[in-house]
Amino acid sequence: MIDPLVLGIETSCDETGIGIVRGRTLLSNTIASSMDEHARYGGVVPEVAARAHLEALQPSIEQALAEARVTLDDLDAIAVTSGPGLAGALMVGVGAAKGLAVSLNKPLYAVNHLVGHIAADLLSDDSEPLEYPTIALLVSGGHTSLLHVRDLTTDVELLGETVDDAAGEAFDKVARLLGLPYPGGPQIDRAAADGDPKAIRFPRGLSKASDLQKHRYDFSFSGLKTAVARWIERAEANGEEVPVADVAASFREAVVDVLVTKALAACEDRGVPRLLLGGGVIANRRLRDVTLERAQAAGVTVRIPPLRLCTDNGAMIAGLAAELIASGRGASTLAFGADSTLP
Ligand code: KG4
Ligand code: ZN
Repeated sequence: MIDPLVLGIETSCDETGIGIVRGRTLLSNTIASSMDEHARYGGVVPEVAARAHLEALQPSIEQALAEARVTLDDLDAIAVTSGPGLAGALMVGVGAAKGLAVSLNKPLYAVNHLVGHIAADLLSDDSEPLEYPTIALLVSGGHTSLLHVRDLTTDVELLGETVDDAAGEAFDKVARLLGLPYPGGPQIDRAAADGDPKAIRFPRGLSKASDLQKHRYDFSFSGLKTAVARWIERAEANGEEVPVADVAASFREAVVDVLVTKALAACEDRGVPRLLLGGGVIANRRLRDVTLERAQAAGVTVRIPPLRLCTDNGAMIAGLAAELIASGRGASTLAFGADSTLP
């Protein structure tokens, strides 16, 4: 089957994503987010996310089918994110996918969410195909991962990831410290526009020579968050007004610096002059600008899929399954379950 028609289900975090692809052609991509429901808690609440998926799945599937102008019977396969992610949230998608596959008697593909993020690039309108090998940097509210991709379907190596908070999570937590609403990324971005990124030198996690031996490609953002909290506390204790723009700009600079430095170090160490970006934090203008600037200086070409394919979505899951089918990979058995820590 060269161009299989695949429906993909993504429920690993707070987005219920249903995508339909025909091979590498994107037919529809509906995303229902429960973000507003999490806003008052300042972060994603797993139980709330799982319940929201349950409510959103059926209407989202119907909408995706209608937009793609296909029926369930037309599908060649069903694909679903089996991990990593929030266990309860994943379980809703996996249950729905198994139900669909069994009732329709269609093959089912369980796929890895992180590899799905890379597959998103295949669906971009860009006529140039993704070149291998490539280093991939995935940054979202749930993950901060550096991957060495030699082949999307057979050879993806996890080089490193965050040892504590994800980058997006750090944006969300620091926004809260500054009294800005959730999700914090866009808010910090806005606040930072008038700030001086060099005003305060915040720590770059796992970047000291002593850390680099063991954690060369790993990230840590909780120390940075604590440093921002201490800085704000001290200013307030001294009766000073907190310079929100400068704190936001300096914090953002610390995150961007460490992300770009480690991603380009991986490119250099591995002799791979290509870098693919993915995840919701890529919406950050400063991150994109600094990456492009420093990558160019290092002779590394950067690929950034369209933003709507960078954040969590079902199309990337369907796209990855279509790629697996095209490469001759057999379907999953029904024995798999949701695996929150899938490597
Ligand atoms: O990939 P994504 O949409 O979803 C999940 O993580 O599930 O990423 C969401 C994260 C949030 O933490 C949000 O604060 C962050 O991406 N984000 C940003 C920006 N826009 C969204 N972070 C920094 N700058 C932005 N402009
Ligand atoms: Zn994701």
